[in-house]
Amino acid sequence: MAAINENYLKLKAGYLFPEIRRRVVAFEKENPSARVIRMGIGDVTEPLPAAVRQAMHQAVDDLGRHETFHGYGPEQGYDFLREAIAKHDFQARGCEVAADEIFVSDGSKCDCGNILDIFGPGNVVAITDPAYPVYVDTNVMAGHTGEAKENGEYDGLVYVTTKAETNFTAEPPSQRVDMAYLCSPNNPTGTVMTRPLLERWVQYAKANDTVLLFDAAYEAYITDPAIVHSIYEIPGARDVAIEFRSFSKLAGFTGVRCGFTVVPKSLKGRTKNGEAVELHKLWHRRQSTKFNGVSYITQRGAAAVYTDEGRAQVRDLVQFYLANAAIIRQSMSEIGLTMYGGVNAPYAWIKTPDGMSSWQFFDYLLKNCHVVGTPGSGFGAAGEGYFRLSCFNSRKNVEEAMRRILDKLKKP
Ligand code: MLT
Repeated sequence: MAAINENYLKLKAGYLFPEIRRRVVAFEKENPSARVIRMGIGDVTEPLPAAVRQAMHQAVDDLGRHETFHGYGPEQGYDFLREAIAKHDFQARGCEVAADEIFVSDGSKCDCGNILDIFGPGNVVAITDPAYPVYVDTNVMAGHTGEAKENGEYDGLVYVTTKAETNFTAEPPSQRVDMAYLCSPNNPTGTVMTRPLLERWVQYAKANDTVLLFDAAYEAYITDPAIVHSIYEIPGARDVAIEFRSFSKLAGFTGVRCGFTVVPKSLKGRTKNGEAVELHKLWHRRQSTKFNGVSYITQRGAAAVYTDEGRAQVRDLVQFYLANAAIIRQSMSEIGLTMYGGVNAPYAWIKTPDGMSSWQFFDYLLKNCHVVGTPGSGFGAAGEGYFRLSCFNSRKNVEEAMRRILDKLKKP
């Protein structure tokens, strides 16, 4: 028998979302007449924007003619998409990011995990708590942690706990770390990091030779003009940060699959002898070897997001989900529950009522309202006592879910 990667055996339970699905399927089996509304996983519900669909249809036709046929594409993405991203997402915001620093991929979840391929063992890694579970689990799989402790935390990771009092945003830790994951707008709390806070992180990273892994998958949901969309809007960030972006929540690509990662050429890691090496070169090598690029059809669809038509359509899509968030906020306030997020992000982070644990509230809502959310404790120990509702749903479902919750929880 082949030896296995025993780090996988350290992983606590199943991945959070399959575990939720398992419980919901069991409930539906026992209650076949219940119409369950799913507001757990953040998966989009609205159709692809017309500009994206038209570009994809055209791309299919391109593949149907010898003159415009495409076989293997460049592993890092087609220039037409990398150039559009560099221009609109970065240069238009005054960020110094070149097209060849952008690596198009099949999504930011994959990149957040795969990026660990280019980092060696022994790095001290900081992760905010609560956090998107992929950050922790991929570090466990890569052998960067010890065993799980009683409270679910892993030995060897530095947890930077975030609290309600600081709007669930994290200050840099007092100790030195080699790598730190940041996510803003945040999944799961829906809160955002301010410019001064990000400046403190960049200063910390410069002073400590830390690489920041900045997940900006939800930047399209920022409504506050004071909040930065990219870490590269902070001076000096090019030397310390990798940024992950996604078309999933921006343009409805959760099933289509497309995202990108920015690795600036000025960002360096070191060998064990202390020699500095460009991380861009390593990621380029990694992607060229292990990845064959995103389909031409998908990349044409993604590029259409940057046309005038496409930009207007994705703006409408984002507004639609933010309006769902506003409906949830209104209902939570009527019940008297404290809610964070939902203004610059598509997630509502709710304090559970009556001291219920996150999983107790999950079971309560499923049983009494037939509504599925995500227990905050699934995102880390500091998420206990909170509950996440995703704003990605049809208007009809959000209104119906809120009506059911109000019926049960609103005090007369
Ligand atoms: C979530 O619900 O947290 C996200 O949908 C997960 C993801 O984007 O992978």
